[in-house]
Amino acid sequence: MSRVLMISSEAAPFAKTGGLADVLGALPPELNALGDECAVVLPRYGSIDVSAAEKVYSGLRVYLGGGYYECDIYKKVVRGTQFFFVEHLGLYGRDGFYGDKFGDFGDNHIRYALLCSAALGIARYLFPTQIFHCHDWQAGLLPLFLKNFVTGDPAFYGAKTVFTIHNLGYQGLMPRSKLWEAGVEDRFYRSDLLEFNGAASLLKSGIVFADALTTVSPRYAEEIQTPEFGFGMDGLLRARRGALRGLLNGCDYDEWNPKTDPHIAMNFDADSLEGKLACKQSLLDEFGMGRRISRPLIGIVSRLAHQKGFDLVGSVLDEMLGWRDASLVVLGSGDKDTENLFAGYAQKYPDRMVFWHGFSNRMAHRIEAGSDLFLMPSRYEPCGLNQMYSLRYGTLPVVRATGGLDDTIDVETGFKFWRFDSWDLAECLRHALAVYADPPRLQSMQITAMGRDFSWAQSARGYSALYQELLSRS
Ligand code: ADP
Ligand code: GLC
Repeated sequence: MSRVLMISSEAAPFAKTGGLADVLGALPPELNALGDECAVVLPRYGSIDVSAAEKVYSGLRVYLGGGYYECDIYKKVVRGTQFFFVEHLGLYGRDGFYGDKFGDFGDNHIRYALLCSAALGIARYLFPTQIFHCHDWQAGLLPLFLKNFVTGDPAFYGAKTVFTIHNLGYQGLMPRSKLWEAGVEDRFYRSDLLEFNGAASLLKSGIVFADALTTVSPRYAEEIQTPEFGFGMDGLLRARRGALRGLLNGCDYDEWNPKTDPHIAMNFDADSLEGKLACKQSLLDEFGMGRRISRPLIGIVSRLAHQKGFDLVGSVLDEMLGWRDASLVVLGSGDKDTENLFAGYAQKYPDRMVFWHGFSNRMAHRIEAGSDLFLMPSRYEPCGLNQMYSLRYGTLPVVRATGGLDDTIDVETGFKFWRFDSWDLAECLRHALAVYADPPRLQSMQITAMGRDFSWAQSARGYSALYQELLSRS
């Protein structure tokens, strides 16, 4: 049994922009169920309601950059897991997690340095910790702080750090001149420490200083050691390969289960697929496209980021929506180019395509349930959760074979293409549509897909074993 404190910028149900939040909402309860003791530290963003939370510490002083910040700590217990919220109104009490319409907040380095330092305070006063499990660049300074600044404090003797890379594309860069504001002395600005292409990287801090590194699928653990996927950090990751392992994320089947899902028109499972048809009809009706239910319906739910590869889709849409007679529902927001692309096609094919701009958990569930195919043409995908949700809803994924998409989809459950090229995507979609046109084959794939099990228990066992290994080292 290990006492684990996770540090993250997101966790469902409190703050979510993507899969990181899903992981932090599901993995800690699973670890607790296994017998570890796992708690989570999050910023108390303005959107998080703490009125029903317990204030467990007042006036925690966090020293950074020659001054100090005073924080209050709140606690809420969800699914048997303690979530600690670091409140500092000046730094977190605003709209938006990482930025606003003008771009990223200019003080993110301070906001997330504060999170890391406050987490050490929480460990010291509220949750004695053996393992600090840090997620992505926002938590990248914690291993540096732990190894360099609190070494004399008995509260931290023997404590170890795990750093999980959910996405190497977000590197937490800041100018050298701002390091001191984040509580880091200039001596750490070295090419073998935080320096990265002329800036300081908080992601690199995590990679350099953590005792163990993980990423969220075995395939991505291999990929990030290559120049193609390494974002310039592949050399460092090769050097640290002995400390790196790929542990596949799981799927939260309490949240993503067509049998119990409260957001969908009719519940269903592998024995009652007519419910899925009712979900499709209801989704199409909601968008005024309900007259032709026989058309294959492709769904997309995603951050519209470069990583997700939607620039490939533009050149296949005329074929798919035109003479192949498919329909498309897209939910997401992000890059303006991608938004314009989807908005343009939605205008061109108003009876068969909808672009829902924004973020909606309800709509995400309805699209998973009502679509026939789910499209993820990612350039790279550390794990990807939506394809696992799709499997459970009998919605066959069409994916590029990269990272976790490659690890979770096979010929019995979905469709893969390898080269990041619109021709390869088009071929893959043609194949998927051919299967759609062959109902017995489609149904047999759907039933197989719905039976695949990517539950969190398996992943949690992997993390639990890693914690034990670290703690058994002197
Ligand atoms: P990433 O973390 O890179 O965004 P994942 O596939 O791991 O990709 O996780 C994405 C998560 O965010 C899923 O739970 C997905 O349903 C959710 N999501 C993404 N975009 C939206 C949106 N526009 N509305 C609702 N949920 C969304
Ligand atoms: C990142 C990745 C995604 C992964 C998620 C959770 O946002 O882009 O592939 O599933 O983190 O680990």
